[in-house]
Amino acid sequence: MNRNELQEVVTPAQSILVSTRPGEQSAGAPGSSGLSIDIVVNRQRRQLDVDPRASLLDLVRDHLHLMGTKKGCDHGQCGACTVHLDGRRVVSCLMLALQADGREVTTIEGLAGPNGSLHVMQQAFIDHDALQCGYCTPGQIMSAVACVREGHANSVAGIREYMSGNLCRCGAYVGIVAAIQDAAPRMQGAEP
Ligand code: FES
Ligand code: FES
Repeated sequence: MNRNELQEVVTPAQSILVSTRPGEQSAGAPGSSGLSIDIVVNRQRRQLDVDPRASLLDLVRDHLHLMGTKKGCDHGQCGACTVHLDGRRVVSCLMLALQADGREVTTIEGLAGPNGSLHVMQQAFIDHDALQCGYCTPGQIMSAVACVREGHANSVAGIREYMSGNLCRCGAYVGIVAAIQDAAPRMQGAEP
């Protein structure tokens, strides 16, 4: 595949991340260009300088050092990078950090209560052994919470459909569905 073909298959958000100079990193280093954004991350307001080419995923991991959000494919195909943006789930590798300006981002680190108590969904994943290596787990949990909040957890089929964008190479799907079914009714009373 030559360079022109490569640029045709990437999404608009990704295309801006394509390097233009030999040896350049694809997303650039956050903070290198001085474009300022104002965001709330895990209940804390932050003013940050970001590289206009940086993805939200790279902002979270490389700039804010919130390493719970994982980089799997970096192409929107695995769900490992799932976070919440204004309460809705997004795959952070397909968003530019600049697109989060003025908005609220929640990562897996922000899901627990202020006193460190686990979110109902986090505890349910533990209770149902809904993980093996754990690499996909932060993204799975962020999607699972959104699955319940958005009303898709009323049936196994609905859960599977909503969660189909989150891949698990360890095949922990049975436990993941069980965890969501368990947590869903308890989230109703526990969420603000
Ligand atoms: S790393 Fe974002 S979807 Fe795979
Ligand atoms: S627990 Fe290993 S990839 Fe899901």
